[in-house]
Amino acid sequence: MNVKLISQPLAQVQADALVVVLFEAEAESKTIAGEAASLANQLTGGWIRELLETQEMTGKLLEMAELARPQGLQARKLVVVGGGKPSSFSPGELRKITGAALRKLKAKKAHSVAFALDPAMCTEMMASAAAEGAILGDFEPDRYKTDPKKNEEKIEDFLFVASETTELVQGLARGQILAESQNFARELVNEPGNRLTPAVLAARAREMASQFGLECEVLSEDRMRQLGMGALLGVAQGSSEPPALIIVRYKPEGTPSGSAHLALLGKGVTFDTGGISIKPADGMEKMKYDMAGGAAVLGAIRALAQLKPPLAVTALVPAVENMPGGRAQRPGDIVTSLAGKTVEVLNTDAEGRLILIDAIEYAKRLGCTHLIDAATLTGAIVVALGTVNVGVFTNNESFRDQLLAAARAEAEKMWPMPLDEEYKDLLKSAFADLANIGGRWGGAISAAMFLKEWADPHPWIHLDIAGTAWLEEAKPYLAKGPSGVAVRTFVNLAMNWK
Ligand code: BES
Ligand code: MN
Ligand code: ZN
Repeated sequence: MNVKLISQPLAQVQADALVVVLFEAEAESKTIAGEAASLANQLTGGWIRELLETQEMTGKLLEMAELARPQGLQARKLVVVGGGKPSSFSPGELRKITGAALRKLKAKKAHSVAFALDPAMCTEMMASAAAEGAILGDFEPDRYKTDPKKNEEKIEDFLFVASETTELVQGLARGQILAESQNFARELVNEPGNRLTPAVLAARAREMASQFGLECEVLSEDRMRQLGMGALLGVAQGSSEPPALIIVRYKPEGTPSGSAHLALLGKGVTFDTGGISIKPADGMEKMKYDMAGGAAVLGAIRALAQLKPPLAVTALVPAVENMPGGRAQRPGDIVTSLAGKTVEVLNTDAEGRLILIDAIEYAKRLGCTHLIDAATLTGAIVVALGTVNVGVFTNNESFRDQLLAAARAEAEKMWPMPLDEEYKDLLKSAFADLANIGGRWGGAISAAMFLKEWADPHPWIHLDIAGTAWLEEAKPYLAKGPSGVAVRTFVNLAMNWK
C-alpha cells in the first residue's frame, strides 16, 4: 500500500472515499467543531449536521455513515467515522479508526482512501497511527486461498490529507515501517507447520536481513551440539526437521564501548504437538502460532533497521519443531543446558522454556546487557489474563516500567505479573538442578521463574503472549488470526531507550 501526504483543499481530493472523524462531544452539542468535518459538512450541504440531528451518528468510536457521490466533493464517497470522546482520543483510537474504515471500504471495492484529521490533532504519532491502522487493517491471512477475486479487494493508496510538515511526513513513514514490519511478523505466524519449518524460518530471516542491511547468522544443529545446547537439542530431537538458532544483528555506527546492547529473544516453535506428552487433537492446529514470539522479534528488528536508533539490538530465535517420535525426548530425561545447569524434563510439552534458556545464555555470551523474551509460553497466562493483556514478568522493575511505557504509547495492553522467590520452590527436582514444570497452580509464573534462573543477573523481561498473539475473532480493524503483538512495543522501547 502506498502511503502519501497530500496537501489539497478537501473538495479537490480525488479518491474512492474520503474519511473524516466526528466526536461524541460534537454530536451532543450538535455543533461540528473539527475543521475537516465541518468543511465536509459545508461541501455536502449539511449532510453531517443532518446525521447529528437525526441521531444517526452519536460519535461513538468506530460508528460509521457514508454518503455516495457527495455533491461538492471530488471523492466518490464521503465516510464519517465516530471518534469517541475527544478527551480520550489518542493514537490508539486513531489506529482503530483508519483500520476499521479501510477494512469496510476494502470490502466495498475501494482502491484509494483519503483521510482527513482535524489539523489540531495532527502530530507525528497521530500520523504514524493513521498509517499503521490502514496497513494493519489491510492484512488478510489469505495467502493460501486461490480465489482470484481476492485481488479485487485491495487498497492501493492511503492518502493523509494535511498541510505538509516534516513532522507529519516522518510520522507517516514511521507508521508505514512499523505496520509493514508487524504484518511481516503476522505473515510468518500465519504460515502452517508444513510450510514454515525451522530451516524455512531461518531462510526467511536471512532474506529479510539482507533486504534491510542486517547481519544474520544461523547456528546449525552441529554447531549447537559443539557448544552444548542440550536443552534446545533435547526438544528438537523428536523431529526430522533440524533446529536452527537464528541471530539477526542491528549495530548502529559509533556507539561507545560499554553501551547497552538489547537482546530480543523470541520462542520459535514452528509447530508444538507437545512431543511425547502429546496435546489433545482438538485445537492442535493452532499450535502453528507457537513461533509468534520469534516472528515478533524479527518484525521488530526489521523496523529498527530502517528507523536506526543509536542502540545495538540483537534478535535471537531458537527455532525447533516439537514432535513425538522414536528419537523424541522422554518425560524424565535429564538435559544439560548451555549454561551448565541440568533440567529434568517432566513434561515434554513445556518445551518453550527449554529452547529459550539456551538462547538466553547465548545472548549473554554475545555481550547483550539487557534481555527481553517474547513467547507463547503457557496456557496458564490465558487463564490469568484472557486474550486482552500480555503477561509481563521481570527481575528488574525499572526496566519493566520502561517497557510498559512503550507498550502504553503503542496501545499494546500488557500487565505486570509477580515473580516472588517463593515460586522457585515449585521447580524442585529430585534428580537435576531444576524441573521444567511447576505443577498445576500459577503455571505462567513458574514458567517465568524457570527462565529467570538463566536470565539472572542481567536485567530481563519476559512477555507471555500465548493469549494475545492470535485473534480468535476478527475485530472491525483487524482480521482474525495472527495479531503481531509486541512488535510495536519493542520498536518504541528501542527508539526511546534511556
Ligand atoms: N505452546 C504452549 C503454550 C500455549 C498453550 C500457547 C495454549 C498457546 C495456547 C506451550 O508449549 C505449552 O504447551 N505449555 C504447557 C505447559 C505445561 C505442560 C506446564 C501448557 O501451558 O499447558
Ligand atoms: Mn508445548
Ligand atoms: Zn509451545
